[in-house]
Amino acid sequence: MDLRGKRAVVTGASAGIGRELSLQLADRGVAKVALLARRTDLLQEVAAECSAKGAKALAVRCDVTDRSSCEAAAREVLADLQQVDVLILNAGMSMGCYFEDIKDMSDGEKLMNLNVMGVANVLHYFLASMPKVRDSRIVVVSSVSGVVGVPFRTFYCASKWALHGFCAALRAEFLEAYGPDKAPKVVVTCPPEVGTSLNTNRLKFGNEETAQFDQKAALPVPVAAQMILDGTVKGDRHHFFAKFWSWIHTFYPCCPARIEDLIVKGVRKSHKAPRYGNM
Ligand SMILES: NC(=O)c1ccc[n+]([C@@H]2O[C@H](COP(=O)([O-])OP(=O)(O)OC[C@H]3O[C@@H](n4cnc5c(N)ncnc54)[C@H](OP(=O)(O)O)[C@@H]3O)[C@@H](O)[C@H]2O)c1
Repeated sequence: MDLRGKRAVVTGASAGIGRELSLQLADRGVAKVALLARRTDLLQEVAAECSAKGAKALAVRCDVTDRSSCEAAAREVLADLQQVDVLILNAGMSMGCYFEDIKDMSDGEKLMNLNVMGVANVLHYFLASMPKVRDSRIVVVSSVSGVVGVPFRTFYCASKWALHGFCAALRAEFLEAYGPDKAPKVVVTCPPEVGTSLNTNRLKFGNEETAQFDQKAALPVPVAAQMILDGTVKGDRHHFFAKFWSWIHTFYPCCPARIEDLIVKGVRKSHKAPRYGNM
């Protein structure tokens, strides 16, 4: 698959991974890219940078949790793009709180709604505009938390694991409806920690602090975006950033206790989570 001349949509394009993906799509020669998020001032800046790289860029306000906002955004985008070849569903949020310490459960609903329904809502309004060919790409930004259980991320893991099931069913539907030669590819990309504001803006679930993360251990954003676009071009079903994670994904069902031990040791090295004893 060649990104040159393609028309792309990126959610969560105002910051972090989505912003960088948009810029790199422009570098890779997409003809048009629609940038979706709530902060339109930031989207305008990203659009200007994409335009300077030669891609026509549209900044469109969209709250992915609000279906009427998604519908309006899709109408505005499709009036210009006509069709979408690459749809990157990236907007999301994280948490950093032990389940035992949660005070305000409504943050759980917020997180699930953004990370799961935010993907489904946007796909709902754009899917009809995507050509039913193998070169079309639906890219869902999951996480390594979508393949293993990670401490103080119960709802985040639940949201990302849900996306894997959602995408598996979507692939099956495409196969059934369009056959193996025409089914659009559904890529679920699973980054490890990346140096964005996601890890400093975690939902607090009613507490004052969230888990602190050593940003030195994070992957630089441009590297993460480059790897996601490489996986997009290849059409990887599950896209991992290192053989280690692909190994974890394969062997988790066979030796879960051993893998949980590895994950907990890794998290202890890079994270520090407050305990509140709310129970
Ligand atoms: N950073 C990491 O360590 C990491 C690791 C693995 C996976 N991921 C995944 O990567 C994705 C992007 O995260 P990031 O690290 O780039 O985070 P980020 O820097 O905090 O950016 C989050 C983006 O999501 C958008 N967003 C949030 N709520 C939204 C809403 N209701 N409607 C529309 N857009 C919304 C934000 O835009 P507005 O606020 O302008 O709306 C922003 O552009 C997420 O799905 C995350 O789970 C991140």
